Amino acid sequence: MQPYTGLQCTQCHRFFPEEAPLGKCPECQGLLDTLLDETVLSYYSKRRLGNDARSMWKFHMFLPVKAGTIPVTAGEGDTPLRPVKSFPHLRNIWVKDETRNPTGTFKDRGASLAVTRLSQLKIRKLVLASEGNAGCSFALYSQMAGIRCHVYLPSDANNAKVELSKKLGAQVTKVKGTISEAGQHAAKAAEETGAYNASTFVTPFRHDGKGTMALEICQQRGWESPDYIVYPVGGGVGLVGMWKMFKILYRLGWIHKRPRIIAVQPTGCAPVVDA
Ligand SMILES: Cc1ncc(COP(=O)(O)O)c(C=O)c1O
Ligand SMILES: [Zn+2]
Repeated sequence: MQPYTGLQCTQCHRFFPEEAPLGKCPECQGLLDTLLDETVLSYYSKRRLGNDARSMWKFHMFLPVKAGTIPVTAGEGDTPLRPVKSFPHLRNIWVKDETRNPTGTFKDRGASLAVTRLSQLKIRKLVLASEGNAGCSFALYSQMAGIRCHVYLPSDANNAKVELSKKLGAQVTKVKGTISEAGQHAAKAAEETGAYNASTFVTPFRHDGKGTMALEICQQRGWESPDYIVYPVGGGVGLVGMWKMFKILYRLGWIHKRPRIIAVQPTGCAPVVDA
């Protein structure tokens, strides 16, 4: 039995059992979150976690998918936790090496999960806004699932990422402006063509994928939570996804404390740090 039950609005708290592929809350446009039945989840044991799936999917019970799901996977996640030796005066610092993911970033975690669920919900075309990395990830998994993928990127996006997205079968449109303008184009395209908008914090199916980083970190440390997590925040998907999983692990009693999460952003664009 899978613990996933459906979607809940973080603003108006309405519950949606998810028969349709939702994005934002149909009632109030708030962000939707996925809900797990933690009583069902508590039947799983951390000691009996299979190591057979060499991917984030060994944690399928924490993910918003139904029983019997066959994931759209390219081996994302299950990345090494490497000791950092370049600060001799500081001990016990580790880096989660997310470059080991199929397209080279942790965006693959969210895309594998979202494309898995969306293809079950019969989505055949999707759009998203990206700075480059998420575009590559969604291009890969969409191609694997036979979904058409259209990526909207700011015109100064990294060319290697643009080319990789194209090679992986995505249609790419460069947009004048920033990720914000790219987001507006993606939303308009979704409205006009009926494509599903898989952009950051429009779809509720990405953040739990990044949440698997928290699960892996705890397992790799023998179910001991780190004191601090330092995380490079853009849209905040990983921040929200990891914090959610640390909270669940704590409530389940799999870990005995939660880490403090330090959000790091560049000085020129730091809304989360400022907030
Ligand atoms: C390499 C890299 N680091 C950090 C981030 C921030 O991700 P998040 O949306 O989880 O804040 C992104 C995505 O924008 C990214 O591509
Ligand atoms: Zn709502």
